[in-house]
Amino acid sequence: MPTPLALFNPPPRLLMGPGPINADPRVLRAMSAPLLGQYDPAFRQLMRDTQELYRQVFETRNRATVLVDGTARAGIEAILVSLICPGDIVLVPVFGRFGNLLCEIAARCGADVRRVEATWGTVFSLETIDAALQKHRPRLLAMCQGDTSTTMCQPLEGLGELCRANGVISYVDATASIAGNPLPVDEWKLDAVSVGLQKCLGGPAGISPITLSDAVVERIEARKHLEAGLQAAGYQPGSGPRIASNYFDLAMIVGYWEHGLNHHTEATTMLYAAYECARILLEEGLAAAHARHRLHCQALQAGLVAMGLRLFGDRTHQMQNVTGIYVPNEVDGEAVRRTLLSDFGIEIGTSFGPLAGVIWRIGTMGYNAQRTAVLQTLACLAATLRIHGMNLPSDGVAEAIQVYP
Ligand SMILES: Cc1ncc(COP(=O)(O)O)c(C=O)c1O
Repeated sequence: MPTPLALFNPPPRLLMGPGPINADPRVLRAMSAPLLGQYDPAFRQLMRDTQELYRQVFETRNRATVLVDGTARAGIEAILVSLICPGDIVLVPVFGRFGNLLCEIAARCGADVRRVEATWGTVFSLETIDAALQKHRPRLLAMCQGDTSTTMCQPLEGLGELCRANGVISYVDATASIAGNPLPVDEWKLDAVSVGLQKCLGGPAGISPITLSDAVVERIEARKHLEAGLQAAGYQPGSGPRIASNYFDLAMIVGYWEHGLNHHTEATTMLYAAYECARILLEEGLAAAHARHRLHCQALQAGLVAMGLRLFGDRTHQMQNVTGIYVPNEVDGEAVRRTLLSDFGIEIGTSFGPLAGVIWRIGTMGYNAQRTAVLQTLACLAATLRIHGMNLPSDGVAEAIQVYP
């Protein structure tokens, strides 16, 4: 064991779980740049440039495209606490753990939460969501695009339009799907979307890019209550109820981004990371990044199937960046994960709730959506399964290689 004062030297790891993944070395380099004051003109310019990059990432013209300090759930909480007034009906279609998280956060914001459920491993049809909208008449619909716990990707075409036709605000958590799966926010008429860096964007957790339609900004502005220490003479608060969190008050956070309102102290280094993640993605191009994620996911899956493993969930609605695999009956899933980590330095995930111990999840995303990572993972997983006594027809490597052009 190192002494408490020893330098912490992380062991070498290939992070092939459902996130976090190994950050792109360009992002790590960007994070080592010197700090700036948050009102330095150079930093304000970086903020504006970062907003512009994330408008392109989200494929939106939304002016209110900003970043909330904290992990992906900071973006979720900021949007939900800023939009939900106590007693509001919020509809959450749940198809995995992260739908449950949206229910929980909405309930903590005082919402009257109505949930519809899909079996884990499946997604919703638009008709089912429409029927739920008609039944519950919510003020807000909140759902995940990719629910990492099940590896399913909810089709969102038509959802935003349906919500707008019913006077409902739509919010999507795209933490795990952004940059690996298409998400044209304006074309799909989504009102609010939040993400994180630690999946297909190839960065560390710690800042959450979000985008808000003008209609959302209008609702939030109506709830604007400045901190007492910031109020100037003649200050008039918004007419709506005060947002129940200071840290996640989007009226103040948008004011900070747009007008330099003094709210929080910026997590400067995380902004450097977010800026570099977006630059890397946009240099590659969104369509090329989606295709890359699809290719490496397909190669991984071809190898897993060749090993004789069974893939989890509705094959037609898979995220393009995380694969679920049934843990074979012959082995102890947690013991296999431990050997893979300790002997080969490769991390893969299990899942939660009804899928805990039932499936493993392997991510091929961001910097790790690349051939060497896929082939190493297959070879080492096969070796690990053999160590644990399984007879495999193949280690899957040759079959994966065949998928590559
Ligand atoms: C779909 C989804 N939403 C939300 C989160 C929560 O993100 P964080 O752990 O960064 O708060 C995750 C994390 O895995 C996720 O996959």
